[in-house]
Amino acid sequence: MRPLRALQPQSLISALPVLLGVLFALLPGSPASAGDRVVVGGRPVDAAKHPWVVALASRDRFGTERSGQFCGGALVGARTVITAAHCLSREVLGVDHGRVDDLHVISGRNDLRKATGHEVKVRKKWINPAYDTGTNSGDVAVLTLDKPMPAGSTIPMAGRHDKGYKPGAAAEVYGWGDISGYGDYEPRLRAADVDMLEDSACGRAYPKGSEGAFDKDSMVCAGVREGGRDACQGDSGGPLVAHGRVVGLVSWGAGCGEEGRPGVYTRVSAMADLVREHSA
Ligand code: ARG
Repeated sequence: MRPLRALQPQSLISALPVLLGVLFALLPGSPASAGDRVVVGGRPVDAAKHPWVVALASRDRFGTERSGQFCGGALVGARTVITAAHCLSREVLGVDHGRVDDLHVISGRNDLRKATGHEVKVRKKWINPAYDTGTNSGDVAVLTLDKPMPAGSTIPMAGRHDKGYKPGAAAEVYGWGDISGYGDYEPRLRAADVDMLEDSACGRAYPKGSEGAFDKDSMVCAGVREGGRDACQGDSGGPLVAHGRVVGLVSWGAGCGEEGRPGVYTRVSAMADLVREHSA
């Protein structure tokens, strides 16, 4: 890359969005945009065996190379995907979501450079109007697909008292995102093993007034004490699974896999009624 000083004013102006994007991405606790795209410390998994892990994709916005993948999601009904509201924001898409006409959902694609699995167009979007971009609370959206995904591809949402929320419960997070925290986007689906954390521990990691505040009613945290295993940029909206149910959606965190900085997830049980209300 050329040094900034060498840029002409004209190109500096045209580079502004990129510069702002980089700055934004560097802010700790900011929801990662797709430009800086998960799973750190993970292992490859077979997408065909985890068909409820889906990729959100727009080739118009993100290019064809990785099937246009920019976020994750979870298939909770044959035609219903839940994802993060921030995935459909202007920051991530670069334009208003209403202007993205080629939004697709991809299931069962191990390698985004291939055309395997099932790819279905999104017919309808519901973005939680209560999503708060300041605190990231209520980070959920519901996508309705044009056609149903194959039978048996779905995963149930966890209920309020699900044992998957017990602190210390084993969970996995899935995604096609950054594997280093430095923009190494993976073409293959990966998963990382993390532990469900106590709300109080998460509150201490992200107190009010810091980069983002943890809110136990709408969020849940997962990670490992020594760090090194976490979701990352590009994994947003993707599922955190414990005891066979989706308990969380990748939402935010400070850096990726840093010690004492667990991943913060949308608490699915808190959104489940809204999701059902807005499912076709
Ligand atoms: N907001 C990010 C995204 O859009 C996900 C960040 C998750 N970060 C974490 N450390 N768990 O892809």
